[in-house]
Amino acid sequence: MQADIVVGVQAGDEAKGKVTHHLCREGNYTHVLRFNGGCNAGHTIYHEGKKFVTHHIPAGVFYGIKSIIGSGCVVNVKQFFKELKELKKGGIDVDGKVFIARNTHIITDEHLEQDGRDRSIGTTKRGNGPAYSDKYGRSGQLAKDHPDLGPYLIDLYEELHENGSVRVLCEGAQGFELDIDWGDYPYVTSSHCTAAGALLNAIPHSWIRNVWGVAKIYETYVGAKQFEPNNPAFPLLRKYGEEYGATTGRPRQCNWLNLDRLTKAVNINGVNRLVINKMDVMRQLDQWTLIKGGEEKHFKSESEIKSYMAKQLTDPLERRPVLI
Ligand code: IMP
Ligand code: MG
Repeated sequence: MQADIVVGVQAGDEAKGKVTHHLCREGNYTHVLRFNGGCNAGHTIYHEGKKFVTHHIPAGVFYGIKSIIGSGCVVNVKQFFKELKELKKGGIDVDGKVFIARNTHIITDEHLEQDGRDRSIGTTKRGNGPAYSDKYGRSGQLAKDHPDLGPYLIDLYEELHENGSVRVLCEGAQGFELDIDWGDYPYVTSSHCTAAGALLNAIPHSWIRNVWGVAKIYETYVGAKQFEPNNPAFPLLRKYGEEYGATTGRPRQCNWLNLDRLTKAVNINGVNRLVINKMDVMRQLDQWTLIKGGEEKHFKSESEIKSYMAKQLTDPLERRPVLI
């Protein structure tokens, strides 16, 4: 029994989809399990030269791996079927590969309407907050009671614990800065985006092998709070990095990577493999800056910033740099 976890260690949009897609190809998994969030997420995946954007369905489906939407998620049923159709149209074989845990909660039209009225958080308006409110208020609707989901339902316990040996890749959505407990509350999403969130989906701690943290060499955030400082570098980063939301198309605010917050995210998640994406975008900008101790720290080159980060981000257990 084995589980690896992929988590975002910034405010989402760290290109987790790319990492998950890669691991699905290499990792010999029996299952891929999305463990939090709903269709607020937008995972952009390039598969065999074609671009796909998934919101609910885990990346395992591209390699014929059983792909489960876990109990930590909330599901918009219309969006789920739309996505299945789009994947099929793109030539992906989804039949008998995509499942929803029986105890996953449903996003209703009422949730969408409620979230549509949000003005203060800058949500994606996909009904997430209201769906999780009803879940914890004990008035939610479960997937197992939805009339259209019958053929897709799965019992997470039976599937993962009574089926012999399994190797599960747990795919997180959003990221540490949006986590309901550890993010910048109230500018957060309503689910558990850390590795702890994976455990809530019938994954025992003893199965966990690697926790992959995914970051970018700079940061982005989408939502109502002011995040981007006034600096001509950031509109350039947005342009070079094509930093526009995969779900809503909103421009993402940009900032330098904050190494203190990244360290906190690495430690709380227990990250032992850290991927830093979008180096090519930073090369285009050719300005090597990060925030440490609340101040900008400048480096002369890519290799200088990399070795500085590797020294700072040491795995507390293995005593070696987690940066790969
Ligand atoms: P909600 O998750 O739609 O309720 O939105 C809450 C906050 O999380 C807002 O600032 C959203 O922009 C942000 N958010 C939610 N999902 C994502 C995502 O997949 N990527 C980036 N930001 C997200
Ligand atoms: Mg995204």
